[in-house]
Amino acid sequence: MTTSPVPTMNGDSVDTDRARTWVQAIAAAVDQHKDHLTQLDSAIGDADHGTNMHRGFSAATTAVAAMEPDTVGAALITAGTTLISTVGGASGPLYGGAFRAIGKALDTPTAGTQQLAAALAAGLASIQKLGAAAPGDKTMIDAYAPALAAFQQQAGAGADLAAAATAAADAAEVGMRSTTPMQARKGRASYLGARSIGHQDPGATSTALVFRALAETLGAR
Ligand SMILES: Nc1ncnc2c1ncn2[C@@H]1O[C@H](COP(=O)(O)OP(=O)(O)O)[C@@H](O)[C@H]1O
Ligand SMILES: [Mg+2]
Repeated sequence: MTTSPVPTMNGDSVDTDRARTWVQAIAAAVDQHKDHLTQLDSAIGDADHGTNMHRGFSAATTAVAAMEPDTVGAALITAGTTLISTVGGASGPLYGGAFRAIGKALDTPTAGTQQLAAALAAGLASIQKLGAAAPGDKTMIDAYAPALAAFQQQAGAGADLAAAATAAADAAEVGMRSTTPMQARKGRASYLGARSIGHQDPGATSTALVFRALAETLGAR
């Protein structure tokens, strides 16, 4: 038996409650942008990205609300497992594996900027291992990789969590927009070949929501 740690939070650490709040904040953002995500996926996919993300993060929110996590990562592992089991599309296993990897790297009651940077790197590695996409292939990687680079750069410069996460969210949005002129080389959109050019990638768009939700969660006092 482990005793329940008292949740703590200061400017430089994320606690169990903040991890859970991040999942809830993603669910709220996805709820708000569901139709937009589906519209983007109808242009170059099968019009289910909004519903996929909504189903997954709603279920994840319910799952994490029911737990008493004793590490920062516990809620994120549960969220990841829930995404894998509730989302049928490519994005379910990709995001699910990423959240599980992030959670596993946060096996402590609180985590600081450097530890979160390492955890986010583990999340990207998981997506790349499973999906084998590289930057420029017009996927969620094109938002995630620049977001991670910005977070790591800020962490290395001694920034606090909120500043690092805000820089990451800004970079994710730039990366998201950079997918429009790309030709898809992975996933369903790649079947369209050159016809995928000129459309923003749905998964890169939801990844930008994930990082903005992190910035809002860590910036909130
Ligand atoms: N191999 C991959 N690596 C990384 N991301 C991918 C890959 N394949 C697809 N994606 C992402 O998943 C998104 C589509 O998700 P979704 O519509 O939920 O699944 P599906 O394509 O199965 O319908 C794409 O916009 C892209 O960002
Ligand atoms: Mg789809």
